[in-house]
Amino acid sequence: MDFPSTTIDIEEKVNSDEQKLSHTIARMIEETVKQRFASSTSNALAQRDAHGKAHGCVRGQFKVNGDLPHHLTSPVFQPGKEYDCYIRYSNGSGLSQKDAVGDGRGMAIKLLNVTKSSSNTQDFLLINHPTFFVKDASDYLDFQKATKKNKLLSFFFPGLNPFKWRLMEFNVAKAIRQKKVFNPLAIQYWSMTPFLFNQQGVKFSAKPIGPDPIQDQLDKTSDHFLKKNMLTHLSQYEAQFQFMVQLQTDSKTMPIEDPRVEWDEAKSPFIELAQINIPKQNFTSLEQETLCENLSFTPWHHVPEHRPLGGINRIRKVVYDAISKLRHKLNNVEEVEPSF
Ligand code: HEM
Repeated sequence: MDFPSTTIDIEEKVNSDEQKLSHTIARMIEETVKQRFASSTSNALAQRDAHGKAHGCVRGQFKVNGDLPHHLTSPVFQPGKEYDCYIRYSNGSGLSQKDAVGDGRGMAIKLLNVTKSSSNTQDFLLINHPTFFVKDASDYLDFQKATKKNKLLSFFFPGLNPFKWRLMEFNVAKAIRQKKVFNPLAIQYWSMTPFLFNQQGVKFSAKPIGPDPIQDQLDKTSDHFLKKNMLTHLSQYEAQFQFMVQLQTDSKTMPIEDPRVEWDEAKSPFIELAQINIPKQNFTSLEQETLCENLSFTPWHHVPEHRPLGGINRIRKVVYDAISKLRHKLNNVEEVEPSF
């Protein structure tokens, strides 16, 4: 196969305790889901532990560019190929809080009928910031413990010794929480963590095309203004995103095992692979919202050529699988991948 001269070795380093830590993390998150479900009202559903509040699931088309160079093609990215997709927009928190509360915003894309994937789907999970605020499994466990005790600050500042402070993590989390977002269809999203692209490490991003068409109609105050603004947008205009890839061109400054580090766009700019078109629609029918709730997005719905890379993604394999299974079981619904 003909790869660019920048192709470098993928350096994945798996710590010996990582698998065990991932299962401990999954068990803790399962406990939280069960506790929240047990204390909710009788007709409430068991929800995702993260990204619990959906603003909406929309239907769209994902169209791969017709003129991709050979090294940017893969079983998913076949020039001119078009997929139907679902996209779920969400807040990062597991709790259903008001949209005015600072939080990460998620865009989870599910491409349908991807024949080379064992789930028949290819998912891309994106958040509106380029970096993640946790380095590895051991730190994620500390984060879980601090969250459970409702003492999140103790994760960033675990004592008086400044050498133990997690300042880099604190700054990423602060940057995410300080973003002011009003229309989920008008902001950029990133994969944060790396993936394989044939034999190369990459990150993905989706960026809206053109300015926000409803800038002067935005609701900025009601409790669920993100959903309301999406509805305003899609009742009058379609929404479009460029779907892009960033190639890893230096293993030191663009690490696989540390998603806190942003890969420098000056060294390796994002390149467009596809366009996402979300036609005008109303996505608030009971049927659509139920389908949205029951979908499972995970970076581990993938073709082998786009395997998730790095420790944070490896934890996600254990966790997303366990949590999705649990909430489907508690809600008494079948866990199935959609095909239309
Ligand atoms: C070890 C780190 C992480 C853990 C333990 C974790 C955990 C979770 C869990 C439990 C869910 C709900 C899954 C379900 O019930 O189906 C979820 C959803 C999600 N996560 Fe993560 N996550 C992690 C890192 C990340 C990262 C780095 C991203 C970056 C893009 C991300 C983006 C998302 C998104 C967008 C959703 C919502 C998917 C949907 O709409 O259903 N997560 N995460």
